[in-house]
Amino acid sequence: MSEIKENALMEKIVSLCKRRGFVFPSSEIYGGFNGFWDYGPYGCRMKRAIENLWWHEMVETRDNIEGLDSTIICHPTVWKASGHLDQFSDLMTDCKDCKSRHRVDQMEDPTTCPNCGSKNLTEPREFNLMMKTYVGPVFDNEHTAYLRAETCQPIFVDFQQVRNSARQKLPFGIAQIGKAFRNEINPRNFTFRSREFTQMEMEFFCDGEQGMEWFEYWKEQRINYYKNKLKFTDDFFRIYEHEKLAHYAKAAIDIEVKFPFGWGELEGVHHRGTWDISQHSQFSGTDLQYIDHDNKRKVMPTVIETSVGLDRTMLALLGKAYDEDTAATQKEGMEEDVRIVLHLPPLVAPIQLAVLPLSKKLNENAEKLYKDMNRYFRCEYDVTGSIGKRYRRQDEIGTPLCLTFDFESAADNAVTVRDRDTMQQERVSIDNLRNYVEDFINR
Ligand code: GAP
Repeated sequence: MSEIKENALMEKIVSLCKRRGFVFPSSEIYGGFNGFWDYGPYGCRMKRAIENLWWHEMVETRDNIEGLDSTIICHPTVWKASGHLDQFSDLMTDCKDCKSRHRVDQMEDPTTCPNCGSKNLTEPREFNLMMKTYVGPVFDNEHTAYLRAETCQPIFVDFQQVRNSARQKLPFGIAQIGKAFRNEINPRNFTFRSREFTQMEMEFFCDGEQGMEWFEYWKEQRINYYKNKLKFTDDFFRIYEHEKLAHYAKAAIDIEVKFPFGWGELEGVHHRGTWDISQHSQFSGTDLQYIDHDNKRKVMPTVIETSVGLDRTMLALLGKAYDEDTAATQKEGMEEDVRIVLHLPPLVAPIQLAVLPLSKKLNENAEKLYKDMNRYFRCEYDVTGSIGKRYRRQDEIGTPLCLTFDFESAADNAVTVRDRDTMQQERVSIDNLRNYVEDFINR
């Protein structure tokens, strides 16, 4: 691994993401739109892969977690009950000289503009982060609605509906993946702080007596997921325990990882007490308590939340994976002096297997093999350029395995498989290829 300085690393990743179509500014031909990002062909493949992995781990492999796909705009009172309309704000000050705007809690000296050094600042004011819209034909206060600022609120609102229809008893959870919107004052660090982003949240409902046990359980589950599935090693991963908690919370940790710009929060695991369900019971006038028929009592469910940003997961993975390898080029006899490579976990690499025929003459058989493998893995077929150039194109997007179909392949029913990280090549029988790739991806 080469040592790439944090600033340089971020620039390199932004540039690679644009060049290879992972992520680029939204509406770029109009000058871009601050805090909004589009995911291109490789980007959305990778994003979808992370999303599917999370869903598989959190929902599909568990009997006690149900899925939900709620609307982005919901009844405005939801955001009153959740506290977002009154409290989801940052204290901001404007510089009257250079017109820049700053979050007071992030200023080293709240009396001096960090942009131009002027002392001519406005009184700090609260700016709410909820994004507003109007529903219906009249644009007035009565018709104001909000884009959801987090995906979990509709989970709380639909708690009883989901529980009844899925015939779940406490303890059980509800998970949702979807867009969230925040009018962040200073979007920055590429996709890390965006105005539109995707969250993957799971709310686990239990009896308060077991709250701390479930909190510990989910903390461990999530740590294992990062270590075993996304391959975050200890030097990229740490836990921050909150000392100051929200008045209703009992415990909270952040899972922090090393992003291309430094350490930052990737996921929160929070014990939220009975706050969420109590609030929505009170504001909606619907009793959302759980009836424990066995013990003939009502329970206000306690919530344990796991909440992670999909865009941040992808940014952290790209930062961890990026490398420039000089020794590699000599090994493979290439002319250029550096090989750019993404050491992505094979489970979430945008392309898992590239099929590269050694010559266009081999197209027919090679393409057949590609189509077959593409049913099981994310594959790409590439016939253009020298084999070395094609390897480099795949290294740069993090493809863990490349296979070359050569003039022997039809006769010996085998292909050469090259490992992105070791660059070792191995002859693999086509009959065994699917198992070989599957084992490699899941190891
Ligand atoms: N329901 C709890 C909640 O929303 P949060 O810490 O505000 O908690 C959870 O957000 C996760 O969502 C964060 O850990 C982060 O990964 C992601 N996230 C939050 N704000 C974001 C933003 N502006 N841009 C990208 N991701 C964001």
